Amino acid sequence: MMTGCNLSSKTLKLVVMVSGGGSNLQALIDAIADKSLNAEIIHVIANRKNAYALERAKTQGIPASVHLLKPYKNDGRGRDQYDLDLAEMIQDLSPDLVVLAGWMHILSAEFLEKVSLDVINLHPALPGAFAGVNAIERAYDAFQHGEITHSGCMIHYVIPEVDAGNVIVQASVSILDDDTLESFAERMHQTEHRIIVEAVRKIQNQQ
Ligand code: GAR
Repeated sequence: MMTGCNLSSKTLKLVVMVSGGGSNLQALIDAIADKSLNAEIIHVIANRKNAYALERAKTQGIPASVHLLKPYKNDGRGRDQYDLDLAEMIQDLSPDLVVLAGWMHILSAEFLEKVSLDVINLHPALPGAFAGVNAIERAYDAFQHGEITHSGCMIHYVIPEVDAGNVIVQASVSILDDDTLESFAERMHQTEHRIIVEAVRKIQNQQ
């Protein structure tokens, strides 16, 4: 049995932010449940009301909120105010760590300054590679053009520059000659699920 968790140290309170299916949220939930991660997810925040991740939170009885950008765009408050309200919401929850687990909204420097907490992000590519959206598709495409031999994924601290910042955990993922995009993506997701837990555990062990 895996015992990466140091039970004598403090349980890390997490806010997990999601936009989609929430399989990475589920990896954290499962690791907490099997006691291989000493953490508690105190709140889930989604920026899409149909995100399946919200169902996963509900099933576990984890409080969840939806914070939509559209109303801010519609009434002129804009993206800056959206980020500031988001930061305030997170501060009120008083987590130890904010985990962006498939969160598809770029957070501003003002957000990071206001929230004043460690924020970590999953990027489905290696450091310095394929910043921005569709990284898995772009890596697969680059492999088909002979530009790369493998890809990978990383968990890093969030800084204003997109998909940059100090790396906490990274892992290589091979791309096979007979891979379809789907088979490569599946291997990527399995690796993401492992490293997101590893990264939170690493931070928890430092507390
Ligand atoms: C992840 O698999 C990741 O590759 C992608 O979003 C997916 C979310 O999946 N992109 C990013 O995380 C970009 N930061 P999930 O909702 O099932 O966890």
